[in-house]
Amino acid sequence: MEKKVVLTGIKPTGVPHVGNYFGAIKPALELSRNYESRFFIADYHSLNSLKDPELLKQYVYEVAACWLACGLDPQKVMFYRQSGVPETFELTTIIMAFSSKGLMNRAHAYKAMVDKNREKGKPDDHNVNMGLFTYPVLMAADILLFDTDLVPVGKDQVQHIEMAQDIAEALNHNYKTQLLQRPEAMVSENTQTIVGMDGRKMSKSYNNTIPFFAPEKQLKKLVNKIVTNSQDIEEPKDPDSCSVFTLYKLFATQDEQQALAERYRAGGMGWGHAKAELFEKMNSLIKPMRERYEELMNDKSYIEKLLKEGEAKARELAAEKIRQLRKAIGID
Ligand code: TRP
Repeated sequence: MEKKVVLTGIKPTGVPHVGNYFGAIKPALELSRNYESRFFIADYHSLNSLKDPELLKQYVYEVAACWLACGLDPQKVMFYRQSGVPETFELTTIIMAFSSKGLMNRAHAYKAMVDKNREKGKPDDHNVNMGLFTYPVLMAADILLFDTDLVPVGKDQVQHIEMAQDIAEALNHNYKTQLLQRPEAMVSENTQTIVGMDGRKMSKSYNNTIPFFAPEKQLKKLVNKIVTNSQDIEEPKDPDSCSVFTLYKLFATQDEQQALAERYRAGGMGWGHAKAELFEKMNSLIKPMRERYEELMNDKSYIEKLLKEGEAKARELAAEKIRQLRKAIGID
C-alpha cells in the first residue's frame, strides 16, 4: 500500500521556543518516519501581519534552520517555501470560486478580530485585510494541492481543515470527479500543554517563552527566572505542581524523572538545585542542535539551496495537479 501523505505548514514568526519544539516540531518529525511528508514554510501567510521585508526574510531562514537542526532530513521530507510553489496561488484562485463568503465569516481568526474591534468600539472590519479574511482559502490550497491525507495541527487549526474539506467537496461535486483529496486533521490528544516560565501555557502572547536556541548563558538565566513558590531548602516539595519539574519531564528519561521527584519529596533540595538540574538536562539535549542551527544560520546559501531543491520537487507534483484541474474546469 502506498504511504499516506502528511502535510503541514509552518508560519515563520520568529525563533521557535521550547513549546514549539515539543508541541509541533518533534511530533511532526516523528510522523515523517512513517508517512510521505511535506512540510513547508507558509511565508505568504505571514505577509498578512508582517510587512517588514528584512524581518520576514530573517524569520524564514530561522524557521528553516530550526527544523533542519532539529533533524528534518530534506532527502526524506519535501521541504519548501509556499512562495516557491506558485501553483499554490493558481489553486487559490480556482477554489475561491468554490468557497462561500459565509464560510469565511465563520472563521475563528477573522471572528476574533471582529470581536476585538467591537470591544474597542471600532468598526467590525478595522485592520482586517483580505489576506486575513481569505486565509482559510490559501491554507486549503496549500493542503489540496498535494493530495494530502493527514494534516497534523493544533486544535486552533481544526476549523481550517474542515473548511478545506468543504471546499474540496464543493469542487469535486461540481465536476463529478474526485479531483481533490479530502484531508483529515490529525490533532494529537496527548500533546500536553507546555508550561512557560510563569506556569501558564508557554506562549509568545504571555511573554513567558524559552527560545529553543537561546545561547547557553541566556538559557541558564531564563531557567533561573522560572517562577517557584517560596518554600525553603529543607521543606519537602511537590514536583507535580512545580513548573521546573514539569519542564524537566520533557527532557529527562523516566528514571531521571523518578530520581528528581524523590529528591523533591525528601526535602533538603532548594529551587536553585532543581533549576541547575533542569538547565543541565535541557542544555545537553539542545546543545548539538543549537550548534547545527548556528552553522546553518551562518550559511544561508546552503539553506537556500535545500529549499530550492524541495521547491523543484514540489512544483512537479503541483503542476500536474493544476493541469488536471484546468482540464476539468475548461481552462486549458
Ligand atoms: N495556519 C497554520 C498556522 O497558523 C499554518 C498553515 C498554513 C498550515 N498552511 C497550512 C498548517 C497548511 C497546515 C496545513 O499554524
